[in-house]
Amino acid sequence: MIIAETITEVRQQVAAWRKEGLTIGLVPTMGALHEGHISLVRESVKECDRTVASVFVNPTQFAAGEDLDKYPRTFERDVELLEQNGCDMVFYPAVEEMYPAGFGAEIQITTDMVHQLCGASRPTHFKGVCTVVGKLFNIVTPDKGFFGEKDAQQLAILKKMVRDLNFPLEVVGCPTIREADGLAKSSRNSYLSPEERAAAVILYKTMQAAKEKLESGMTDAEEVKKFMTDMIQTEPLAKIDYIQVVDGIDLIPVKEVSPGDLVALAVYFGSTRLIDNFTV
Ligand code: PAF
Repeated sequence: MIIAETITEVRQQVAAWRKEGLTIGLVPTMGALHEGHISLVRESVKECDRTVASVFVNPTQFAAGEDLDKYPRTFERDVELLEQNGCDMVFYPAVEEMYPAGFGAEIQITTDMVHQLCGASRPTHFKGVCTVVGKLFNIVTPDKGFFGEKDAQQLAILKKMVRDLNFPLEVVGCPTIREADGLAKSSRNSYLSPEERAAAVILYKTMQAAKEKLESGMTDAEEVKKFMTDMIQTEPLAKIDYIQVVDGIDLIPVKEVSPGDLVALAVYFGSTRLIDNFTV
């Protein structure tokens, strides 16, 4: 597997692959890889001739006071995992490579979808995500970009960015990978104390119970949210940031729940904020 630290190296390798007529998949990551990321790599390997993963803890998507400095960095292990799973090149740029002195551009989605859900408490987050992913798309020029459905809002926003700005590629969403007890795999799970980790299973249990309510005819979004709030509040270590029901494309809150809608939540356990969701 090639380890490329510069944009020039990536471009040269991509040009060589293109000359051979090969298709390219991109898996953008911030490293600290787990089975969720690896499932994206495997999907890319299945769907594309060559797979590029990026490992870059993107500073522009963290606000002051968030976990940029303590975000886990495990590059050697990441390289092993990527190599074992068929990745062809990892792009591992320094911050200065992506944001050289004088850098001054950004990609911003201007509809309300960036203010919903995580956007309410992280108002600048998606601007940073779109800017770095837009740059990665321009650097790697993939045919397909692979992203996890666990970050459902990020996925919807990136699909919109690609649609509205005519990036010539397909954004592919891949299912959330879970621990045996249902907790969604996340690099941030490593921040949880043993007690918080045990408590966090309430998220999956609540989503399963909400699914059953929906299947048995509950359609009022407020009722669904109240049911979920009450259940999560039975766990003393959980502090709800939001529970919301939105449509699956524009992420606008709905009153009546219907197929295709997204039920999404963010909940703190101590200082760790976990997100999860399911599609109705
Ligand atoms: O989902 C992530 O890990 C990040 O937001 C991404 C897409 C790699 C952009 O930095």
